[in-house]
Amino acid sequence: MWLVTGGAGYIGAHVVRALQRSGREVVVLDDLSTGIASKLGDTPLVRASVGDREALRAAFRDYKVDGVLHLAAKKAVGESVERPLYYWQENVCNLQVLLEEMTQAGIARFVYSSSAAVYGQPDSTDLITETTLCQPINPYGATKLAGEWMTTATAAQYGWSAMSLRYFNVAGAGEADLADPGVFNLIPLVFRALDNQVPPQVYGDDYPTVDGTCVRDYVHVVDLADAHVAACEYVETHPAAGNTVLNIGTGRGSSVLEVLDTVSAATGLDATGARVQRRAGDPAQLVAAVDRAREVLGWTSSNDLSDMVTSAWQAWKSHNGETE
Ligand code: WQD
Repeated sequence: MWLVTGGAGYIGAHVVRALQRSGREVVVLDDLSTGIASKLGDTPLVRASVGDREALRAAFRDYKVDGVLHLAAKKAVGESVERPLYYWQENVCNLQVLLEEMTQAGIARFVYSSSAAVYGQPDSTDLITETTLCQPINPYGATKLAGEWMTTATAAQYGWSAMSLRYFNVAGAGEADLADPGVFNLIPLVFRALDNQVPPQVYGDDYPTVDGTCVRDYVHVVDLADAHVAACEYVETHPAAGNTVLNIGTGRGSSVLEVLDTVSAATGLDATGARVQRRAGDPAQLVAAVDRAREVLGWTSSNDLSDMVTSAWQAWKSHNGETE
């Protein structure tokens, strides 16, 4: 039985469905601070924080848990700057409790949700490998990196098999009810601008990139969920392998303007952007080298940017009504 923390969230709910489709049994632990219980259907839900030792102990015992996927975390970069200690509490202190209770329960399989935010602002625009220097530039990225370190040391000492998945820019929806409810990232912000009939904002067009706008590696949440299934499979079949760190992206970069063109094509609406000033802290280009994920997991993404935008738009319309 796999316990998925944060399983009622945007990514978590996709992971839960993918695990169930793979034939695995799942129990979710989620405090529903941002998660939505209705995404879980019949999946058992323990409504608790990851920092709640008693709830963890009971869940491990009652559901005979033998592996944990840990996705529950705070993930808003701006908020992490304003409330750093809250982020360290939620993302690092709570993880310490989880890992300690796992050692007590003898659970030795762990999959950890990390982020490309651990890389910060790389100097070069080369593809980012897992050995690229990690220099996070905000508390969110720092807490994710600290979590990897805690996982590495624990896995080594207690003979675990663990995986830390560094997600790049996650987008899209597997089914309409699983859409990202937040309007924080580029694609939902563009959709909201279209709804409001204002031009989407482009944060800077003088970067040293193909068209001057920032380039990111957008990965479909359905592919990301499949990467988690592959990670579970790996730790199930490779005991005591320690912590393996993997980039999870497509290996292909898209500029902001390319995203806007793709939105125009997918929606039939005019998503021509309006240039505004750069946003502080944005690296010009962040694109994953994905060789290690392919070699270790046999996983590569199969959906492209158009699939992400189209599925996200369908889900957006079903939640927000027609815009046309
Ligand atoms: C994407 C690109 C913007 C909005 C963030 C976090 C990261 C991870 C994913 C994890 C950038 C540009 C955006 C807009 C724009 N979080 N943009 N106009 O910043 O790459 O990554 O989310 O949990 O840690 O930092 O994602 O979606 O905010 O921006 O031009 O209205 O779109 O400059 O280049 P980002 P994003």
